[in-house]
Amino acid sequence: MSENAFIEYDGKKLELETMIGSENEVGVDITQLRAKTGMITLDPGYGNTGSCTSDITYIDGNKGILRYRGYSIEELAEKSTFLESAFLTLYGHLPSQAELDAFEAPISADADLPQSMKDQIVAFPEGAPPMAVLSAMLNTLACHETDLLTIPHDGAEFDRAAGKIMAKSTTIAAAHYRATQGLPFIAPNPKLSYSGNFLNMMFGQSADTYEILPEVEAAIDLFFILHADHEQNCSTSTVRMVGSSRANLFSSVSAGVGALWGPLHGGANAAVIDMLENIHTNGIKLSDYVDAAKDKNNDTKLMGFGHRVYKSFDPRAKILKTQVDSVLAALNIDDPLLDIAKELEQVALNDEYFVSRNLYPNVDFYSGILLSAIGIPVSMFTVLFAIGRAPGWMANWREMLSHNQRICRPRQVYTGANLRSYVPVSER
Ligand code: CMC
Repeated sequence: MSENAFIEYDGKKLELETMIGSENEVGVDITQLRAKTGMITLDPGYGNTGSCTSDITYIDGNKGILRYRGYSIEELAEKSTFLESAFLTLYGHLPSQAELDAFEAPISADADLPQSMKDQIVAFPEGAPPMAVLSAMLNTLACHETDLLTIPHDGAEFDRAAGKIMAKSTTIAAAHYRATQGLPFIAPNPKLSYSGNFLNMMFGQSADTYEILPEVEAAIDLFFILHADHEQNCSTSTVRMVGSSRANLFSSVSAGVGALWGPLHGGANAAVIDMLENIHTNGIKLSDYVDAAKDKNNDTKLMGFGHRVYKSFDPRAKILKTQVDSVLAALNIDDPLLDIAKELEQVALNDEYFVSRNLYPNVDFYSGILLSAIGIPVSMFTVLFAIGRAPGWMANWREMLSHNQRICRPRQVYTGANLRSYVPVSER
């Protein structure tokens, strides 16, 4: 039983209902605030605003907890596969073998692209950013799947649309990579695992020869699992926001790709490698770099550090750190950037500035080193994040519609000029 909250303003007192989530998080329901008081809330960056109720992902940032549908990320990382975790994220329960087979089959069988999409991918100008290509090609997919643009939030149409996005995202990413290398397209092989097929389309000799190390396939699968959902982050909120206008799944996910691209969100994994390379190549002292990151007059940040929600540690970073060691060992790689990253982590973790602000390594701090070791180009890091995040975006899109949510339309407090008269240009 929750207690109600009260707001007092201008001599009026308003009672607001509260709701308690299944993990005891308390939300004050302000849906009647404007109607009853004329006031709105002001919360740029939404740090205090719950935009929805959700059954999908639970995070306790103070304790470093992340769960998909109630299952801990540590257990899923150890025991699940990406496609199984994707099913879980999308549909709310761990699949039976028959459900998993039915989910996986179309994703494997439907991974190839129509010839015109392959031609379009090759036609992008040299240097086209892979995130722009992915976002554009997801919208192009909508042009090929016009029977899936209605707005079902449940049932076979959603399943087909979601399956197509998952099936074709890896092929789009690999086809674009091959084109940038002047290499021929490698067709998807439905006999391979989701992650194995992706790696084969990236680095293989042909659809039927498979020479990917099992440690590498497992590491990419783990990377995808760790990124599968993260509640109401910037890109997921974008997908919900776009979908709230009843835009279709393809365009909503494509918008999510755009939001993820930025260096403060998914783009941070590439920014971490740029930072480590800059330190390495220019022989920058770590203490000097950390000092620059603390200086408010300097734009330098310790990329891969800090998180809006995690205030003790990011459990995904912990899992990835261990994985990086084992993949580098399997590939027999000695990466100086990993040594710098570990030292940098220690310097920052013992520095009062970072300690007092609860700034710890986030998922992006070690993922870049892992992806580099595997041979993924830095420009594609965020594309892999997007492929991994697709189930979370789509689960949130579906949930948002199943709640029949109103169109998202925040308000503002206007601070501009008051009414003034138009002055003809000759008199200005
Ligand atoms: N380096 C130096 N100072 C930092 C950093 C950092 N990486 N992150 C936060 N701070 C400082 C910030 O300047 C502020 O200081 P003060 O209180 O003196 O003004 C304080 O710590 C609180 O930070 P904030 O910017 O208010 O925190 P936020 O919740 O708005 O931003 C963040 C979170 C992730 C955008 C931010 O920590 C950041 O820019 N980190 C680097 C980029 C990064 O690694 N992003 C990946 C996030 S994880 C993947 C994902 O889910 O997208």
